[in-house]
Amino acid sequence: MKFAMYRGARVLLAVVSLVGMTTATGQTTSVPALQVRSLAASCGACHGTDGAAAPGAAMIPLAGYPREAMVTQMRAFRDGSRAATVMHQIARGYTDRQIEVLADYFVSMRQP
Ligand code: HEC
Repeated sequence: MKFAMYRGARVLLAVVSLVGMTTATGQTTSVPALQVRSLAASCGACHGTDGAAAPGAAMIPLAGYPREAMVTQMRAFRDGSRAATVMHQIARGYTDRQIEVLADYFVSMRQP
């Protein structure tokens, strides 16, 4: 029992130090592909699955969306400098790093 608790604490410490490293190294840390896809999946609810809007939809598709524009727009929604109906609320849920990761993901996708 004692051993199990000790191991648990060590695992916890390892996780905590990994998180710490992630923050400390910032830009250079790679985000696991699955995590990126799950971040991006939440955008699909409105912008279309896999970055592609449904045919005839008025929604802006995100596949191939220019990286810098995505970062700028998301930050503008977040700080309120771009007015929005919903994106200002959504953008608030993402850190700069997550926005960059999303921008990298979508720019690398092709429109079908
Ligand atoms: C609930 C629906 C919804 C979700 C979810 C959503 N969006 Fe949006 N998005 C919108 C709407 C609506 C607009 C138009 C601006 C507004 O009125 O909010 C928009 C606009 C944008 C724009 C600006 C497009 C342009 O060229 O003007 C970007 C970039 C964007 N969204 C990215 C994202 C990303 C990235 C995600 C996922 C993190 C996301 N959106 C999730 C509804 C949504």
